[in-house]
Amino acid sequence: MEKIMKRTNRKTSKVIKILSEVYWAEIGAVGIYMDQHVKCESMGYKKLADMLEKDAIDEMKHSETLAERILFLDGTVINEKHMVPTEKQHEILDMLKQNIEIEDEAIERLNSGISTCFSAGDNGSRLILEEILKSEEEHLDKLKTIYENIQKFGDQFIVTHLI
Ligand SMILES: [Fe+2]
Ligand SMILES: [Fe+2]
Repeated sequence: MEKIMKRTNRKTSKVIKILSEVYWAEIGAVGIYMDQHVKCESMGYKKLADMLEKDAIDEMKHSETLAERILFLDGTVINEKHMVPTEKQHEILDMLKQNIEIEDEAIERLNSGISTCFSAGDNGSRLILEEILKSEEEHLDKLKTIYENIQKFGDQFIVTHLI
């Protein structure tokens, strides 16, 4: 019986490359958000801590889906290039600002990855990136709303919505 083998061609390699880049960023975000979750919990920002934990779990699920897809395409999941926070943050506004940047970058990376998958004719991978994109857009929207409300209403918003 003829053995069916998947062949990794140039187009698939491009897709695996973008899936890996998104994967590394996701794993990096898991670390950053969990770190912030623990900090916020210890500072008494219970609601914000819960939100950060939920976001970290979302990013973890994204990374799992990506890793599975990389393996499906006969690629290798490499865990060596995680995004690491460069500075330690204690102020919640700084944390939120950093997360807005992370989500912004993720959305840019995903949009460009979706185009790459489309050009490579890999719509399975494209659909996966589209699902993740929608989730990151929700994260970004939520973070921006919180950030803007803190700037507008200050401590009052923090006390009512984040503690
Ligand atoms: Fe994510
Ligand atoms: Fe996100």
